[in-house]
Amino acid sequence: MLSAEIEPRITEAFHAHGQGQVLRHLAELAPRQRQEFLAQLAEVDLALMAKLVAELKAQGHRGDAKVDPMTLAPAPYIALGSRTADARAHGESLLREGKVAAFTVAGGQGTRLGWKGPKGTYPATVVTGKPLFRVFAEQIAAAEKRYGCAIPWYIMTSPLNDADTHAFFRDNNWFGRNPSDTFLFPQGTMPSITFEGKLMLEHPSALAVNPDGHGGAIRALHHSGALQDMLARGIAHLSYFQVDNPLVRIVDPVFLGLHARSASSSGEMSSKMVAKRDAAEKVGVFCDVGGGKTGVVEYSDMPSQLTNAVDGQGALRFNAGSVAIHLISLSFLDRLTVGDFALPFHRAKKKVPYWCSTQGKTIDPVEPNAIKFEAFVFDALALASKSLVMETARIEEFAPIKNASGDDSPASSHQIQSNRNGAWLERLGVKVPRRPNGDVNARIEILAQTALEADDLADTDLPREIEAGAELVL
Ligand code: UTP
Repeated sequence: MLSAEIEPRITEAFHAHGQGQVLRHLAELAPRQRQEFLAQLAEVDLALMAKLVAELKAQGHRGDAKVDPMTLAPAPYIALGSRTADARAHGESLLREGKVAAFTVAGGQGTRLGWKGPKGTYPATVVTGKPLFRVFAEQIAAAEKRYGCAIPWYIMTSPLNDADTHAFFRDNNWFGRNPSDTFLFPQGTMPSITFEGKLMLEHPSALAVNPDGHGGAIRALHHSGALQDMLARGIAHLSYFQVDNPLVRIVDPVFLGLHARSASSSGEMSSKMVAKRDAAEKVGVFCDVGGGKTGVVEYSDMPSQLTNAVDGQGALRFNAGSVAIHLISLSFLDRLTVGDFALPFHRAKKKVPYWCSTQGKTIDPVEPNAIKFEAFVFDALALASKSLVMETARIEEFAPIKNASGDDSPASSHQIQSNRNGAWLERLGVKVPRRPNGDVNARIEILAQTALEADDLADTDLPREIEAGAELVL
């Protein structure tokens, strides 16, 4: 409950910052709504918003890139096929010692997919339609069994989907894992603004806000107590991944070993990359952003002459596409979260529902009408003293579900899942049907309990041949 003298301070501050328009229905609100609304207003960092609005006005709606793209060079990376036996052994020992936790960012709104509910509840696998959260839970459980350790799982939700995510885990009995080894916590939010820099109402007693981006994770890990919980458990490294990639390899001993020990790593924050499909693919690219620091530059911030640049062999110069898979050390996180640290905010034009006083209802705009502010986790990379990038095969661990159809959709993800599983079976001599374009012509699902990687299938009873169009679950 806010004390009586705080209320005028809040309203005065909003007027003083030229944001008094959000108070226009205050007098009409019932006492409880009024209290809740004022509590939301009290959380807004008006000085930060004023700074962001000033930047918007100075830069217009152009991109907000923080580096000069013309000074960029491609980032070095550890290419596929490099020798990694030592790294694997070291990664496995870290796992056996219980030093690794999993971390899913699941606070996004998933607007492009249009699924009603948290994205982690989306049925993602190619035959049994397992929801993403179950896919990850089963993979973590299989790795726990293999390495004889607990792998605590941290999941960042947002205030908009936290209750539904909790309910999903409860209803699914925490997917059979120990509930105390799963830690859900909400990220922060940022107010959206009009193109003129004004805060907006979603309805008379609520500001229009959005989750503050996956970069909000750094702060939220600290504020939620998750970081403390990890430190108390003796965790040293966090395996970071997005909720929308059912093929992600959550526990990868080679990547862990390289991250923790390689000469080109500080052990602070490392990343996986895949070779870009073509110049036009819309993924961020790993670049040397100056001073030997690695960063990710968004595709929209890359000038086209760099995006399309090729080397003497005709290969893309900037080909290291980010798949949003990282390892982050606890000591790095601990260092970053000292004081009031936050990653910078990026702007994006979006469709934001807003309250229309004349019509007395919330309007869903058909065109972008507002600016959202989001922080990106990869901006932390340049804060690491050295940051390693490891190449991985796209087909092995990248099948994102972002859009309802087309690229990065459930259909494309299903095809990639079957392609990966078909390739695993072919390595063991199984005859797998393929279409003229090389895609596997069957729906093949391999459970984490059966195999975490291709070699695990050696102990499994396999068919000699799969018929065209067949469905198979192993
Ligand atoms: P995306 O950039 O794909 O955004 O998030 P989104 O919100 O899920 O989907 P759209 O753009 O509305 O269609 C990449 C990952 O980052 C997480 C998402 O949950 C996803 O795992 N994320 C994104 C957060 O955790 N918080 C955010 O504020 C934004």
